[in-house]
Amino acid sequence: MDDKTLNAQTDPVLWDDDGTHDVLPGTAARPAAAEPFQSVLQKTVSRRAVLKGAAVAGATLVITPAALLSPASAEAHGFGRRHGRRNDPSNRLTFETVPAGSEPDVVVPPNYDVDVLLRWGDPLFPGAPAFDVNNQTGASQAQQFGFNADLVLWYPLPDFVKRSVHRNGRLGGLANKLLGMAYPKIMDNYSKSALVVVNHEYTSADDMFPDYDSASYPTLDQTETEIEAHGFSIVELIIDRKGRWHFNQHSPFNRRSTGSSAIEITGPLRGHPLMQSQDDPSGTVVKGSLNNCAGGKTPWGTILTCEENFDQYFANFDSVPAGFAALSARIPAPGGASGRAWEKHVDRFDLAKDPTEYHRFGYVVEIDPYNPDAPAKKRTALGRFKHEGAASRVGRDGRVAVYSGDDARFEYVYKFVSEGRYHPHDRRKNLDLLDQGTLYVARFDAGDVAGDDMGDGVWLELSPNNPALAGWTLEEILLNSRGAADVVGATPMDRPEDIEVSPKTGHVYVALTNNSRRTEPNEANPRVNNQHGHVVEIIEDRGDAGAKAFSWNILVKCGDPAVPEHDTSFGDVADPMAEGVSPISDPDNLAFDDDGNLWISTDGMPFSGSYGFGQNDGVFAVPVAGENRGLLRQFLSGVPGGEVCGPEFSGDNKTFFCAIQHPNDGNAFVNIWPTDEAVVSKPSLIAVREKHGRKIGN
Ligand code: FEO
Ligand code: CA
Ligand code: CA
Repeated sequence: MDDKTLNAQTDPVLWDDDGTHDVLPGTAARPAAAEPFQSVLQKTVSRRAVLKGAAVAGATLVITPAALLSPASAEAHGFGRRHGRRNDPSNRLTFETVPAGSEPDVVVPPNYDVDVLLRWGDPLFPGAPAFDVNNQTGASQAQQFGFNADLVLWYPLPDFVKRSVHRNGRLGGLANKLLGMAYPKIMDNYSKSALVVVNHEYTSADDMFPDYDSASYPTLDQTETEIEAHGFSIVELIIDRKGRWHFNQHSPFNRRSTGSSAIEITGPLRGHPLMQSQDDPSGTVVKGSLNNCAGGKTPWGTILTCEENFDQYFANFDSVPAGFAALSARIPAPGGASGRAWEKHVDRFDLAKDPTEYHRFGYVVEIDPYNPDAPAKKRTALGRFKHEGAASRVGRDGRVAVYSGDDARFEYVYKFVSEGRYHPHDRRKNLDLLDQGTLYVARFDAGDVAGDDMGDGVWLELSPNNPALAGWTLEEILLNSRGAADVVGATPMDRPEDIEVSPKTGHVYVALTNNSRRTEPNEANPRVNNQHGHVVEIIEDRGDAGAKAFSWNILVKCGDPAVPEHDTSFGDVADPMAEGVSPISDPDNLAFDDDGNLWISTDGMPFSGSYGFGQNDGVFAVPVAGENRGLLRQFLSGVPGGEVCGPEFSGDNKTFFCAIQHPNDGNAFVNIWPTDEAVVSKPSLIAVREKHGRKIGN
């Protein structure tokens, strides 16, 4: 399907049935080329003055589950895996398949244990208040583990780094230098201490406050609590002799960044007039990071955490001046009131009062977990969209690529390539590498044969150097990345979520969650009404992350292999039923084990209802190479109403971490998980171990 066909289907519409707003590609999305920024700014300032104090009305966005849970229907499949040759990565995956189910607690293979490490509200610092469901305040929540745990990343913590931070309260220059040399060698190894980052994607007031009534709330306390429940936590974990991880509350590395913490704006948009808000006339510091979803690690050991559905926090987009509105026409906020109604209490969420604040969200945020003193930074060079996933890899010439999806229907896959080169031995020189470079967007072509689920593609440059973007400034392109990607002819995908790079091959994997609104297939998104999603494998030319072209194929077309109408495929597996492939829907977050097997967590299996997917979300392992490429099997079953996020391995691969997000969604005060909790379900970080200390997968 080309863009014209898509655009002819329907006028641009706002789709909000999943709590977010999508706008079709091709919607008019930028100021007229003849209208210089200065005039846009002047209009904005005068309009802002007119609107000041104006009353605002609008419909409340109600976020409800798309469907009710239906009973589990899938049966456990047999397990017909072939033993591969020596060194076949799949040889490790001998675990007993976990059947699809709807149990109230996490289910893993019989030789595994599950520990709940951190729960929403757990105090992260000595002296932080204990969780009290009836007395929640922003001040308390700012010192506690946030809500809706999502991304999980594990970093080894060497003793010399600990000593430096214990001594100075920050990472000293020498320790930073040593870390630069050591990190590439230690990142995949055993470590008795580790730093783990967990995102707190969003809040659901109904599942947080016992007395919440959306008609008359939120109170100021509730709004402040919700704002502080966002962002991310960085925590130190220590391992005991039995191989179990524990949270170290006394660690100087423990840190909360919330929806109000100061974050620097860096890169090309730093200080630009379009970033200068009423709160921050300098355009260099923003309060908070919101809707942090997936993310990734850099080769130098920093965190990339992504702002995804930032649109839902802001109100009154209908009041935004035309020039500003055009910059966000493809990513608009609610026209009237926002669903959370934070704007009742906090002016910066009301775009009628300050339209510029909206420009300061929708970025990849980088933070150094090893230095508690280092500010988090929004890297504007990577563009502004609903970022999900930020997978990095060093290219042949040393430039660094970061791949990122834009999670909405018919949105795109992006790649940023740094201008500067990675310094393997000088960590400090890498710390701002992501501030200069070039953004690209993917076009997936059919290749020699149409309809064979493979083809080639190109990375289309999103910069004023591209003749298709004549008249666009770099700032316009970065603020309005979707609009620029429309113009250059990127391929609209079926909700690109997490992206990961294989540590073994450098191949890139993109989870495409679903797209129930696709009516016209294209080569890379071949199913109409794609209920169950698929996974695409991208192979860069010459294996170079900096390449401008690639080939691609579909690794997995998800669904239940027992249901022919699902039109599934699983790599090279000829008979998925006979070989024991598990049913899967809605692939979302990705991770690799150290043998190069892909692990997938899902988001939405309970709601892919029309085809009998009533079971809980889960975690699945799938070899991407060798005899069993595509033999996908379920490893973990989550809990009702909860998606499973942030799959991650400890460096020695003997612990599997993930987050259970929104357990018992919409029902958190009725059904309780973790099961030993008394009052309310709590989004949590869990750790899974093999009982005999073997690597995960055995
Ligand atoms: Fe936050 Fe696209 O999942
Ligand atoms: Ca093809
Ligand atoms: Ca996700």
